[in-house]
Amino acid sequence: MYIYYISYLNIPGGIDPHTHLNLNCMGMNTADDFYSGTKAALAGGTTMIMDFAIAHKGESLVEVYDKYRELADSKVCCDYGLHVGVSSWDDKVGTEMETLTKEKGINSFKTYLAYEENMLEDDELYRVYNKCRDIGALAMVHAENGKIIQMKAKELIDIGVTGPEGHVLSRPEEAEATQRAITIANQANCPLYVVHVMSKSAAKVVSVARRKGQVVLGEALAAGLGTDGTNYWNKCWRHAAGYVMSPPLRPDSSTPGYLMDLLANGDLQCTGSDNCTFNADQKAIGKDDFRLIPNGVNGLEDRMSVVWEKGVHSGKMDPCRFVAATSTAAAKVFNIYPKKGRIAAGSDADVVVWNPNETRTISAKTHNHAVDFNIFEGMICHGVPEVVITRGHVVVEDGQVNKPCKVEREPYTGPVIQVGAGT
Ligand code: URP
Ligand code: ZN
Ligand code: ZN
Repeated sequence: MYIYYISYLNIPGGIDPHTHLNLNCMGMNTADDFYSGTKAALAGGTTMIMDFAIAHKGESLVEVYDKYRELADSKVCCDYGLHVGVSSWDDKVGTEMETLTKEKGINSFKTYLAYEENMLEDDELYRVYNKCRDIGALAMVHAENGKIIQMKAKELIDIGVTGPEGHVLSRPEEAEATQRAITIANQANCPLYVVHVMSKSAAKVVSVARRKGQVVLGEALAAGLGTDGTNYWNKCWRHAAGYVMSPPLRPDSSTPGYLMDLLANGDLQCTGSDNCTFNADQKAIGKDDFRLIPNGVNGLEDRMSVVWEKGVHSGKMDPCRFVAATSTAAAKVFNIYPKKGRIAAGSDADVVVWNPNETRTISAKTHNHAVDFNIFEGMICHGVPEVVITRGHVVVEDGQVNKPCKVEREPYTGPVIQVGAGT
């Protein structure tokens, strides 16, 4: 156990490798967009995000990527990158993956074993991973067994379990799907990044594969480290639905500590938020059927504080490991190091002045997100980003996001062009 007295630290700005600031789920857009989401990120000490341009079956990957660039460019307050989601396989998909890597700098592609509109069969997965290997890109996987989930969910609905607890009851731990994806990636000789590792059994699969020498990387989430799935049994429907995400939080209060142990010892490498927020009224579309509750939770603003509280303040990890797990590892994995993820001459001036002795209480009433719920409500966190600098601009001071301020000037008294006839 690490016990420190530390005063202020200057650390590289956080990098959140997993956000959804423009996901459309069941016809509804996330509450946080690229503006409110990146503002919340900066408030929490994260100076770069990586979001997902997800092409559904039959859609052009390049067109979807271009659309996301346009959406994000006009709104972001900090640097961002994109992964591209691949939901089908044919020669055109392969050619587009190549174009994205060679011409647009995309080097990570997310694949799905769940979600009807996105999931790939094993042979398709193998082909996508072969292509990733050939073009030097990193394959990512959402590892859950979509078909079993569909059947289990229907069984639960049929016996009257319609509330948010049905969401977790219908979703087996991700160990089987994680093992399957790792096996297929290994057959294709392709490195694999397992996004949102949420259960003990899935985390073990990642650890064992790494010990065998397979190139597998695992991502913990702020949600999985900071809270648990007992909330799905809360008597208040809005509260329980607020935690619905996939893979689900496990209803076992020892899972968050276990995942933190693995993040601390290096078995898991990165920490994301999977920020994908929906307001309570949006979630309520699934009030009679948990299958319709839009999936996703917050975490972008609070990720750094949650990892500090549960990792460093608890004595499980040292501050260097904290920097690796919240910033440097993601920069290395996604090929943006050393521009990002370190403080040094030549790197971007993304710096956080971190005060480990200050505390703050997380609340939806005070957060910078546009969503009306916070899964960490009431958590007291040691570790506050007092100053945040993104590309040399101070954007957070004394823990407050700077508002644009007016420049005081003398009134303009010079000539003004006359618009009208002849001009
Ligand atoms: O519940 C979640 N995680 N929503 C976002 C989509 C995904 O699978 O990452
Ligand atoms: Zn996912
Ligand atoms: Zn996600």
